[in-house]
Amino acid sequence: MLRLPALLAGTLLLVAGCAGQAAVREFPVVGAPGIGDDYFPGDGNGGYDVQRYDLDIGYDPATDELTGTALVTADITGAPLRGFSLDLVGLDVASVRVDGTEVTTTRDGDELLVDPGQVVVDGRFTVQVEYSGVPEPVRDGPGVSGVVPTDDGVLVVGQPDVAATWFPVNDHPRDAAAVQLSVTVPEDLVAVSNGTLVAEGEPVDGERTWVWRSDEPMAPYLITLAVGDYDLTEREVDGITYRDAVATGLTDRRADNARAALDRQPEVVDFLAGMFGSPYPFTECGGIVTDSSLGFALETQTRPIYARDFFGTASAAELVVVHELAHQWTGDDLRLDRWSDIWLNEGFATYAEWAWTEAEGGETVADQLAAVTDLSADDEFWQQAIGDPGPATDELFSTAVYVRGAATLAALREGIGDDAFDELLSRWTTDRAGQAVTTAEFTELAAEVAGTDLSGFFADWLGAGKPT
Ligand code: ARG
Ligand code: ZN
Repeated sequence: MLRLPALLAGTLLLVAGCAGQAAVREFPVVGAPGIGDDYFPGDGNGGYDVQRYDLDIGYDPATDELTGTALVTADITGAPLRGFSLDLVGLDVASVRVDGTEVTTTRDGDELLVDPGQVVVDGRFTVQVEYSGVPEPVRDGPGVSGVVPTDDGVLVVGQPDVAATWFPVNDHPRDAAAVQLSVTVPEDLVAVSNGTLVAEGEPVDGERTWVWRSDEPMAPYLITLAVGDYDLTEREVDGITYRDAVATGLTDRRADNARAALDRQPEVVDFLAGMFGSPYPFTECGGIVTDSSLGFALETQTRPIYARDFFGTASAAELVVVHELAHQWTGDDLRLDRWSDIWLNEGFATYAEWAWTEAEGGETVADQLAAVTDLSADDEFWQQAIGDPGPATDELFSTAVYVRGAATLAALREGIGDDAFDELLSRWTTDRAGQAVTTAEFTELAAEVAGTDLSGFFADWLGAGKPT
């Protein structure tokens, strides 16, 4: 047995290199069971960075049973790993292979731990997990999210951490990855997901397999799946492929409003590219309009998913499409490094609604800001510090996170002027494209672009209490 001085244990091992120099090799470690997010300590994992997920699943709407094989390809981020975790909630694991070698695992809460000491992974490695079971929907507050069975199929939609309820994953937006999803469902149903449609599958034994692929890295919670009776259409505008899926069960008025709003997506994308000062980040776009009442929509990458609730009026339909498409820049392409910075997603998407409304001849951004600043200082609205809102669903997605977040940007624009504000949005979405970002990075860039100290401004707007 190798015995080490306490000082060295777990840190560095010096190995003689072939050219006679000492090559520094790190001891294999066990990856942490969380990525290090204060709000969700168990979410994500330490020690590796996923490059891609290849998911091959079957879903039976009659039993809600999911059977899957997940192939996770990852790179270590530090020392070689002698053990590591994936996030997985419920479901039965039949086998796990690391680089082809079958390994034993332990389930500990929402962690699937590859028991330490069986393999050492260094550089790139793969984990293949065969699993099955009925996924547990996520109950956050009054609503249901995650894997949600519907009358004829299923929806996968939720935030912040629902991916682990349907496949083994590093379930945190800091770790985005490419995804290929093959889904086998009854032949009369449609399966819609993110990105491009690779194959629609021929019916075999009453089933067919739909294959969807997203090459642009995606945060795990942004991976969606909708199985059911959908009308799937495709068109290309300015080099972007729009694939829309509208549930055939929607009633006339809602279906009309949905179609009208989805028809305007290329205009919305144009408008947002102008507002953000950077092109639409992906090559695919479109929307999934469900016949289910979830109470929320989600910015699932390239293909937001919309509950039927938003399509009662034409204007609500249009605004939710603007909101979710704005998230493609802020939320999806630029991702959160930590959930406490959620205003970077929701404030920007809500600001986009305000800007669209003004451009359409409705209320101006200045008037919408004034409606907020008119609220009295003791209004409950001002009590939450949106820069640290708290991890509960009703804290993360509070009215203040959305509306005060948008007001922060509108007030910033009034403070630094339109030109500096435009430059700021453009540099934010261009320089940080494809990265995980923080509030501190945004406020530093704002100060740099404005050429002035904005620490008091942001402390006021992102902290508790009405800004002075
Ligand atoms: N990010 C979504 C949006 O702004 C909201 C998600 C709310 N999530 C929830 N579980 N209620 O459109
Ligand atoms: Zn949003």
